[in-house]
Amino acid sequence: MDKNIILRVSDLTKTFKSGSKMLTVLDNVSFSIEQGTSCAIIGPSGSGKTTLLGLCAGLDKPTSGSVFLKESPISSLDERELSKIRNEQIGFVFQSFQLIPTLTALENVMVPVELRGVPYNKVETLALDLLEQVGLKDRVHHYPTQLSGGEQQRVGLARAFIHKPDILFADEPTGNLDSETGAQIEELLFDLNKQQGTTLIIVTHDRELAERCDRIIEMKSGELLSDTNKTESSVNAEMDLA
Ligand SMILES: Nc1ncnc2c1ncn2[C@@H]1O[C@H](COP(=O)(O)OP(=O)(O)OP(=O)(O)O)[C@@H](O)[C@H]1O
Ligand SMILES: [Mg+2]
Repeated sequence: MDKNIILRVSDLTKTFKSGSKMLTVLDNVSFSIEQGTSCAIIGPSGSGKTTLLGLCAGLDKPTSGSVFLKESPISSLDERELSKIRNEQIGFVFQSFQLIPTLTALENVMVPVELRGVPYNKVETLALDLLEQVGLKDRVHHYPTQLSGGEQQRVGLARAFIHKPDILFADEPTGNLDSETGAQIEELLFDLNKQQGTTLIIVTHDRELAERCDRIIEMKSGELLSDTNKTESSVNAEMDLA
């Protein structure tokens, strides 16, 4: 694989059995993402965005086709190999938060790094700092049920950032937030992209957020409808001028 490519999706298809019928939710989707870039995935509700993200992050297996993250065949690894890669390279912000109900906000954020044997104090400082950045300094000891939807989403974001992933998948990261908090989260995402070179793949219904990304992939009924790459078109424009 080209060394600048971090993620390669080839002929990805996902079908579900629905009664006696087969429902095709993703239909032969292919694309590659360059390392360090940001990409938005847009499209109507039900077009397959969350399904696609889950397959890319190895949370689910495709019916056919493949996903490679760098050299790793995400779509065919067993759970043990996958969890190692997820824990070291992948950050995921879920549309439905997925916080652990028996842990506080602080503990939820600490989980990914604690699993890797980093000293407790170091992880705690890092987690507190991130919770402050997402505006939850005064909520660190709250349990998920004691947090609002937007607050839970922000805990989920802090958790996804803590292990400095190579690639961050975010499913509507600003979907449940007011515009001011949403803007803060957006800054955090793009800071991570610029400062750590984290590749961002963001599912969003927010056109402005999508426009900030280097690339926009548009889905419709499980297919790739369009693929607009700003960095490529600017290179082409420069070449036209030369
Ligand atoms: N486990 C499942 N079994 C059957 N159908 C499913 C399953 N998961 C998803 N689907 C169907 O696949 C389609 C795509 O779902 P997906 O969650 O990927 O959509 P989406 O683009 O993320 O939509 P939204 O913008 O509403 O989040 C939907 O029609 C959904 O009903
Ligand atoms: Mg979705």
